[in-house]
Amino acid sequence: MAKTLGIIGFGTVGQGFLEVLINKNKEFQNITGETVRLIGIIGRSKGSIVSENGFDPHDAITCIKRGLSLNQCFPELKRMDVLEFVKNLKPDVLVEAIPTDLENGEPAFSYIRTALELGSRVVTANKGPIALHYEKLKNFGNNLRFEATVMSGTPVIGFIKENLQGSRILEIRGILNGTTNFIIDQMEHGKEYSEALKEAQKRGYAEANPNADVRGLDALAKIVILTKVAMRYPLSINEVKVRGIDTLTRKDVLEAKKQGKKWKLVAKVSNKDGKISASVAPVMIGPEDPLYHVSGTLNGIVIKTDILGEVFLKGPGAGRLETGYAVFLDLIKVLKK
Ligand code: HSE
Repeated sequence: MAKTLGIIGFGTVGQGFLEVLINKNKEFQNITGETVRLIGIIGRSKGSIVSENGFDPHDAITCIKRGLSLNQCFPELKRMDVLEFVKNLKPDVLVEAIPTDLENGEPAFSYIRTALELGSRVVTANKGPIALHYEKLKNFGNNLRFEATVMSGTPVIGFIKENLQGSRILEIRGILNGTTNFIIDQMEHGKEYSEALKEAQKRGYAEANPNADVRGLDALAKIVILTKVAMRYPLSINEVKVRGIDTLTRKDVLEAKKQGKKWKLVAKVSNKDGKISASVAPVMIGPEDPLYHVSGTLNGIVIKTDILGEVFLKGPGAGRLETGYAVFLDLIKVLKK
């Protein structure tokens, strides 16, 4: 029987995920041996539709592309709020992709916890609840997946969890925010800060509130998540020193360029004999550093382990289909037998 699927939040990530699922449906079925029935999309501005019998994902995407709300396109379907949907329909898998809240992780945290308690598996793209409440959720084990929270579709969480097992991770240093990396790049090419930020928003890289990007809070949430996964340490966001790129001027950027260097917003955590310390700050680096070569919206991460030394991973850090792919990947993992 088809597995039932609900999507909470139908913005860039929710839609990107559904598009990937549509385009990769054959691969999805081959890998998991499962089919899915989409029984609900609960959005805010895009409307909310619920049908136990399911509806066509393609029609939902087409509707939004025509600039309509889901309720205009499917007037015959029920509307529900998130908790009503989670409690009454208990989907096999809930995909949660509402805008993040980095102060208390709500309301996403309550949605995720309720769904897990009721037996749904949850795939979230939401940084707030994981950075702030991971300790309260980790007992649900692999029924909760959150690959999309860090480095978009570049599978760093899976890489650490599955491919570095048994390693002791000594340090992580990374460019974890695509928007700021893109802005700095654009400034190197002569654009003004505000112009570059506008472009990042237009392309769907920036957060709903771009202050989270430019003040370093998005990178902060990501380094906290990585610390929890890689070092199994319950790092609090208050323990991390944070500075964003909002203090960086075009003059700073051009000066670095003259010296053959670049400014990068670097998030870092190190484990020195059990003492964990983390920071987020703009750092000027030269071409000898692998992070120097991470440009545009790409993200990059250097993971230092006891046996392997440095492992470097580079890939997309933001974007509609890229982040949608991370959610798709997690959907495969939660359903794969
Ligand atoms: N605003 C985020 C970034 C999106 O620019 O990296 C991906 O988390």
